[in-house]
Amino acid sequence: MREKIGQMIQLTGFFFAGSGEETGPAHEMEIPKEVVKNAASILNVVGAGRLKEVQEKYLEENAHKIPLLFMADVIHGYRTILPIPLAQSCSFDPELVKEGAAVAARESAAAGLHVTFSPMADLVRDPRWGRCMESTGEDAYLNGQMARAAVEGYQGASLLDEGTIAACLKHFAAYGGAEGGRDYNSVDISELTLREQYLPAYEEAVKAGTALVMTSFNTINGIPASANRWLNEDILRKQWGFDGVLISDYGAIHELMMHGVAASKEEAGKLAIEAGVDLDMVSPVYGEVLEKLVLDGEVPMELVDRSARRVLELKNRLGLLDAPFRSEKLMEQEAELMHCEAHRASARKLAEESLVLLKNEGILPLRPETMKKNTIALIGPYARSRELYSAWSLFARNEEVTTIEEGLQNAMKDSPEYAGIRLLVEEGCPILDEGEEIVSFRQQLITNDWNERGIDAEEKLTAAVRAAKEADVAILALGEHIQHSGEGACRSQLRLSKAQRELFKAVKAVNPNTVVVLFSGRPLIFPRISAEAGAILQAWRPGTEGGDAVAAVLTGQVNPSGRLSMSFPKAEGQIPVYYNHLRTGRPAVNGTSARFTSTYRDLDGEAAYPFGYGLSYTSFAYGPVKTDKKIYGLEEPMTASATVTNTGERAGYEVVQCYVQDVAGTTARPVRELKGFQKIWLEPGEEKEVSFTITEAQTRIITRSGSCETEPGTFRIFIGKDSRAEGAYAEVEKR
Ligand code: GLC
Repeated sequence: MREKIGQMIQLTGFFFAGSGEETGPAHEMEIPKEVVKNAASILNVVGAGRLKEVQEKYLEENAHKIPLLFMADVIHGYRTILPIPLAQSCSFDPELVKEGAAVAARESAAAGLHVTFSPMADLVRDPRWGRCMESTGEDAYLNGQMARAAVEGYQGASLLDEGTIAACLKHFAAYGGAEGGRDYNSVDISELTLREQYLPAYEEAVKAGTALVMTSFNTINGIPASANRWLNEDILRKQWGFDGVLISDYGAIHELMMHGVAASKEEAGKLAIEAGVDLDMVSPVYGEVLEKLVLDGEVPMELVDRSARRVLELKNRLGLLDAPFRSEKLMEQEAELMHCEAHRASARKLAEESLVLLKNEGILPLRPETMKKNTIALIGPYARSRELYSAWSLFARNEEVTTIEEGLQNAMKDSPEYAGIRLLVEEGCPILDEGEEIVSFRQQLITNDWNERGIDAEEKLTAAVRAAKEADVAILALGEHIQHSGEGACRSQLRLSKAQRELFKAVKAVNPNTVVVLFSGRPLIFPRISAEAGAILQAWRPGTEGGDAVAAVLTGQVNPSGRLSMSFPKAEGQIPVYYNHLRTGRPAVNGTSARFTSTYRDLDGEAAYPFGYGLSYTSFAYGPVKTDKKIYGLEEPMTASATVTNTGERAGYEVVQCYVQDVAGTTARPVRELKGFQKIWLEPGEEKEVSFTITEAQTRIITRSGSCETEPGTFRIFIGKDSRAEGAYAEVEKR
């Protein structure tokens, strides 16, 4: 039995020779050696050579030669760091996201890994949550398309193929709904909202074949996910047919005691295994108490058999039972594969398509031919920063990151029109204010150390202002600190540091031509910049190719095509603000705060920048929405279409979005919901008819009975450039 229980635990490398973690803090776990010798898996130990050594030493001890599974958080790239998932979703390009996941899989497999703890499909509406950076935003449909793309990219056609890794969908479920946007906090939502908004993306990833699912830290309506049989057995297994491995989040089974639903490890273990959790991630519970629970008749042996079998089936699906050193050929190419040209090209294209142009009063793209001073100033703490990745980029290397300065230098040296143009670069100010502290993901204390380093902030500011004065255009590279987002990085206010806001004011005062490039893992709040900057480019955390991608957009080599996958609030007090809200009995009138409507006395209810929004260097016009039938239903789906025209002088991508409003249901309906999108390329003057097929299933709702049903009624179809979809709509009846 101990061998089977061993297959149900994942430990840190600490217990395993060769992992490099054998030293360090002694683990207080009293897991029997017999169980450790049969452990299923270790996490976040990487490197072909190291993992080969760990596997060899482990197999020497393992009676049945069942190899270890190596899992890690490859959230957005392994060594070639892709844009964060929230940025990737702004590309509205699932094929490109899939290509990026395949790059991450190849590098991870070459480093000896078998599983990544990705994709995260948690729907998010609260930018205070530091983990929205790992999400793909506020829309169920887009989240589903992105989760599917990631699973397919990671897993390829078969997990027996070289260069693939198993996906682990997380955090099941609804972790993005944590109250107050606080990590580990409770989730209290109606079953209607859970099933219409939060669950669909997970279901899409399960249908795409994710090999694992991870339970979330949070309770859902009072029951922690790791003890939630309704969620894990009734929905995940029975309704969706998931037959892979359900792994807990880090220590989450043990935390059932903290949640107050288990008074002991025994109770926690019983709850978790009865709720179908197969693999206990780094908690002592299964390893210490499961055997006794079975021997005392508290837990049937079948549950242990069931979970052990699922883990062994996963190992078999990965080919590990026949070849414990899976991807051996690839592992020999580890060095040349990492951050190779082909991978960088994928990462760069994804970064370029993830950038969102929020504002542009004609300043962008940069026009060297109009520069009378022949000077561009690049100013700000991100001008030369290599930290363009995220707190989850566990395996990134700074020296492999192209900075914004380097990106601009590369773009300028390749273009003759920039001959003779100077690039002045000044840091201007630190990211953090004086006295501001952050504890990093790896628990280091990070502060603004300019004083200790003897850097005179006044001098730096003066130099930045001087550079701005001398320049035709001042580009400000600003943002939150890399450690301001990620796990355990929730924030109660979402503004830039005071020093950065002062820097913007000082630069703007001497140079009206100011472009702001923002680096963040979440929507930030920047009212003055929104009002006064000439242009704003949301760069997110763009990854190792970020410098070249941002430069390509600034210089016009690339026409920006990103569209927001998450709304930007105007103030923290507005949160949550998202596009597909219910109408209420007294809907706010767009952009106004009229009394006795659902808005604030001191602010309207509109986002600063809404879902689906993003500008281009060209313009697009939309024709009227047409439908192929006035009545549609179960047998025949409906097709809606509109003609889109590039009315500008430049070719570019347009993300054509199709929204549907259910005018009246037996439960209140969102103002509109995304039901389709197409990213199309149009040459200047070119027009294209874009069609969307809306199936009957896509407009089913959770009715008062709690079941997902078809309801007859009137539906309004919008086809437009963002979620405001102010244009005309077509009406169809559903029978
Ligand atoms: C963390 C995170 C989860 C991650 C896991 C392993 O606490 O919640 O997303 O995959 O532990 O590092």
